[in-house]
Amino acid sequence: MTDPRHNARSHLFYQTDHPRPTLDRAEGIYLWDMSGNRYIDGSSGAMVCNIGHSNPHVLAAMKAQMDRSTFGYRLHFVTEASEALATRLVSHAWPGMDRVFFVSGGSEAVETAMKLARQYAVAVGQASRWKVISRWPSYHGCTLGALSVTGYDALTDPFLPMLVAMPKVPAPRAWLDGLDPADPATGAHYAAMLDAEIIAQGPQSVLAFILEPVGGASTGALVPPAGYMEAVRAICTRHGVLLIHDEVMSGGGRLGTMFGGQNWPAPPDIIAVSKGFGAGYVPLGAVLARGDLVDAVLAEGPFAHGFTYAGNPLACAAGLAVIEEIERQGMMANSLTIGALLKARLTALMDRFAVIGDVRGMGLLMAFELVADRVTKEPLPPALAAYDRLTEQAYARGLIVYPRRSRGGYAGDHILIAPPMITTPAQVDEIMERLTAAIAAFCVECGLEDHG
Ligand SMILES: Cc1ncc(COP(=O)(O)O)c(C=O)c1O
Repeated sequence: MTDPRHNARSHLFYQTDHPRPTLDRAEGIYLWDMSGNRYIDGSSGAMVCNIGHSNPHVLAAMKAQMDRSTFGYRLHFVTEASEALATRLVSHAWPGMDRVFFVSGGSEAVETAMKLARQYAVAVGQASRWKVISRWPSYHGCTLGALSVTGYDALTDPFLPMLVAMPKVPAPRAWLDGLDPADPATGAHYAAMLDAEIIAQGPQSVLAFILEPVGGASTGALVPPAGYMEAVRAICTRHGVLLIHDEVMSGGGRLGTMFGGQNWPAPPDIIAVSKGFGAGYVPLGAVLARGDLVDAVLAEGPFAHGFTYAGNPLACAAGLAVIEEIERQGMMANSLTIGALLKARLTALMDRFAVIGDVRGMGLLMAFELVADRVTKEPLPPALAAYDRLTEQAYARGLIVYPRRSRGGYAGDHILIAPPMITTPAQVDEIMERLTAAIAAFCVECGLEDHG
């Protein structure tokens, strides 16, 4: 084990206080360290390695591309790989959403989506529009623009003077607010807050609304209540506000559809994707946008934006092979089947552990939230850092999960369980066995009830 804080041999500075082993190799849903210990990738890294590790088809596609070229600057060459990937992405998107701009990560995708929206507004004579409304809590990336629309205080607070203050509306946390997520009145309730915020800001100043179709790190797999997505779409249209779906975590098949938002009949105007599309093989991201929107921008001149490594043929060849594998192995359907099994097994844990207050999610983007009291939904004392303790108990048992604070960055604890889309029922057993042992040990450590 290498203690990241005190490893005199390392020049890297790490972001975890926990000693971590050195990675040796990875295959399928497993990773091995240099001592031969095996870990189950219960969170696909950071919800990235959606198709599993070391997929031979993707590796072969990458090697084939490497033998031809690894880089061709996008202003100097068209590449077959980037053209083919763009075509494949569009084939999965809504009709009319047929233009693609490549980037190398999620934050870059969000920045690009916001800047494309802005340049569109300028192009069509609506330069007064610049505010991007987002939700609280939310996570949209770590660069200053993406952080401006992020609602996660622990990450934004140190940088507040450097951020543009963007308006926030409450995320539709129906469970927390004691509302019925299946009741369309609940969706209407949260959507009305967006409507009110747009009006309060002055509709002519509002450029876009950005949301994660199913929430990721900040809300712990928050599924929108009935009617919410449709109502949000209608409100944005009514006020001339562009709707951006941040699909960095929810895209790529986990929710049973290539783009998570396709679970609702409410298409966005712009989509930001990354993680699952590079699937851990390459840094890759993209923005998809309505064709008429891009045409309006390009009619006035070039899109004033771009990243050096964006659209490089190696990343695009890998991305294309990833989509081919998702299609060939029927991984989106498997996500729904295995996700339902996982959700049932997680929900059953509530009978044993009173500390689990809620189990939520869709497909293979699942989470459970810890509470001090199930009725009041009071969180555990923040100083307990329950999210971190439980994660370490799992890690010690060879299970990797993804923890975060649920209540905006400083309080609340949830754990995301999001294994690769190739996970089998037997592997769900393996995950649950280790997770159950980890929660039991965590309860002993913290003096919490265990009815096991
Ligand atoms: C919804 C969402 N948007 C954007 C990002 C930022 O992506 P990246 O870390 O690749 O910059 C993330 C990362 O977790 C995310 O979950």
